[in-house]
Amino acid sequence: MKNIDTIGHVTGKSVYLDDIPTISGTLHAAVVGSAIAHGKILKVDTTEALRLDGVVKVITCTDIPGENQIGGIVEDETLLAEGEVHYQGQPIAVVIAKTERDAHKAAKMVRIDYQELEPVTDPRIAKEKGLLLIPPRTFSMGNPNEVWSQCKYIVEDSIELGGQEHLYIETQGAYAYPVEGGYIKVHSSTQGPTAVQKTVARVLGLPMNLIEVDVVRLGGGFGGKEDQASGFAAMAALAAHITGKPVKLVLPRHDDMRMTGKRHPYSGDFRIGLTADLKILAFETTLYQNGGAAADLSPAIMERTLFHSTGSYYIPNTRVTVYSCKTNLPPNTAFRGFGGPQGMFVIESAIAKAAETIGVSAIEIQQANLLKENDEFQYGQKAENVNARKCFALASEKFDLENLRQSIENYNQNNKYSKRGLAVMPLCFGISFTNTAMNQARALVHIYQDGSVSVSTGAIEMGQGVNTKMAQVASILLGIDISRVKIHSTNTTRVANTSPTAASSGADLNGNALRIAIAALKKRLLKVAAELLECSDDELTIENETVIRNGAPTALKWNELVKKAHLKRVALTENGHYATPVIYFDKTKEKGHPFAYHVYGTGVVTITLDCIRGTYTIDDVYIVHDFGNSINPLIDLGQVEGAVVQGIGWLTLEELAFDSKGRLLSNSLSTYKVPDIHFAPKSIQCIPLPTNGPELAVLRSKAIGEPPFMYGIAAYFAIHNAIKAFNPSYSIKLTAPLTPERVLMHLYQGR
Ligand code: MTE
Ligand code: HPA
Ligand code: MOS
Repeated sequence: MKNIDTIGHVTGKSVYLDDIPTISGTLHAAVVGSAIAHGKILKVDTTEALRLDGVVKVITCTDIPGENQIGGIVEDETLLAEGEVHYQGQPIAVVIAKTERDAHKAAKMVRIDYQELEPVTDPRIAKEKGLLLIPPRTFSMGNPNEVWSQCKYIVEDSIELGGQEHLYIETQGAYAYPVEGGYIKVHSSTQGPTAVQKTVARVLGLPMNLIEVDVVRLGGGFGGKEDQASGFAAMAALAAHITGKPVKLVLPRHDDMRMTGKRHPYSGDFRIGLTADLKILAFETTLYQNGGAAADLSPAIMERTLFHSTGSYYIPNTRVTVYSCKTNLPPNTAFRGFGGPQGMFVIESAIAKAAETIGVSAIEIQQANLLKENDEFQYGQKAENVNARKCFALASEKFDLENLRQSIENYNQNNKYSKRGLAVMPLCFGISFTNTAMNQARALVHIYQDGSVSVSTGAIEMGQGVNTKMAQVASILLGIDISRVKIHSTNTTRVANTSPTAASSGADLNGNALRIAIAALKKRLLKVAAELLECSDDELTIENETVIRNGAPTALKWNELVKKAHLKRVALTENGHYATPVIYFDKTKEKGHPFAYHVYGTGVVTITLDCIRGTYTIDDVYIVHDFGNSINPLIDLGQVEGAVVQGIGWLTLEELAFDSKGRLLSNSLSTYKVPDIHFAPKSIQCIPLPTNGPELAVLRSKAIGEPPFMYGIAAYFAIHNAIKAFNPSYSIKLTAPLTPERVLMHLYQGR
């Protein structure tokens, strides 16, 4: 089944924030961001800006009626700067004007005097200076110190890993208007409507029940709107509250790029020890997460890095420490994979470096260490229904890996200035919010008298197809046609206390809440049907809009049943609540069972390198992916393809550049290069691993949003392998992204 939004998207009829019809008298807001990365604010002069025709007001921190605080996990972030600035682009003031154009013009006229202070942009320097967002955390298992002496090979090195700009097509924005009695309605492009509601309430000094947040859909989020939409929504709401008028705030791309946080860059050191038969006996790593100027989601992201730092492998002795470092960059935030990709990059780097040192292929090491049933993760959970080896074996077989490797070797022998490379990326990604409390959701279902069905959940549609999946769940479980089901906007008055749609768990959590609501409704409806048909309700079910008795259709249709149930005064509305069972985590021990299940897979990427220019093409991507029993193979395949390309972009072209003063240089699409259709792989073949899927996944259809992002890591090592084919004296340098400039340097290193 196609995504229900397909036609709307291609005909331009889908409504995004900027398409919501505005109320007459709507004002427009522009954000004034700090020109410098670190300093004291000496003076904010708004006289000139206020003189411009059409300018209504300039808001600064002193206008905030509630708290000037938007930190979600740690209370360390102001909405509007107070006395100091900690990153370039940090919001200082909000200009409100009659037109968007005037608002932006006036924003440039706000004069701010600073006393500049030395910025810190390097996480290692931040750590040395004691600039940490939260205390460090360590996960460990066994004792590496006791086994180094048993290792045949010990390899040490460092990594330097870049961040990533989200580049959602729709930039951050919100539209807020006062309704009455202090009540404010906010349309926000957010993954977390409750986070927006809470932040707005806090900033305005109002209770949460006076703030309504509504979200139709996002033009992409990718994690960038899990937390960071809240501040911009709060600015719009603040402006609406102060002026008493509707206010719209939409960031221009340039502002979005410099004001918002990105994927966290990481720096780190590792040491890996292997036995003669390539078993990884010990792994130690210390990582420095570049958190930016405020904690934002960094503590949770750091946690997921720890969880995924051993990748798809069983390693009996580990010690992994992460420092979350405070620097003068925009607060870095959630981005597809949520710290997991960074953790996996490090272990794959260690394996690649070990392979180089030993003189074997990394694939040999990967294969020798893949997780098996009941292997223990360093966080205490036992691996169950492990598909790591099954995916690897199926990929080897279906894609004839041996032959593929051989053909690449032959190519490299026959070509001097063009080399090909191949690498494999095994995947194991834990599903559930790492913060156990967030693993809950609700769904509100109304059945109307005509048999049509309204569904509201806490899930946010951001292109990933969750609304289609929700409609499918309702249609399948009610036994009615999908055309009867309407998925409504996500709204805090219909579904309260939502977790953000994130952690790839939107469909699982909300779908299970929907399942629970539907089960209750169906039970009541079948009781009515049993009365009408004079039988017992456990003989009955509903399929194809018909009541079925002991497998045979009756004359009672869905419409009729609903009508009769209403006349019998049976409630046709239900609220389902779901909380993932089984999971828990004890932070004092750093052990527990944090994940409902894991998603597995094996990705293979081949590339061709131009050894004169340093440029490369991504040739083919071959994947065996563990979808479980996919409820929507078309959507899930789209998620795989998009994620893979995004993952490849992160480690190849996408380079964030800051100057020594902490100013973003790659602040537009002319200086920040993302994969386009020409750069995308020539082919992506993805085979599903045949499995039933776990019980905790919605209808046994596994979470899909983030995991395939990690297959992109294979492209990075495939390029290194091609460089090595050209330059045998090259020793893998673990810096990412591997831009063509870097590749060119590596090609001629030592030659
Ligand atoms: N796909 C599209 N098209 N747009 C997005 O913004 N976000 C990704 C992923 N796929 C995203 C996407 C991220 S970061 C997550 S966590 C999941 O979708 C969230 O949705 P889900 O929980 O419904 O999978
Ligand atoms: N993933 C995404 N978002 C989150 C998580 C997570 O594991 N934990 C808290 N927010
Ligand atoms: Mo996704 S990074 O969990 O929004």
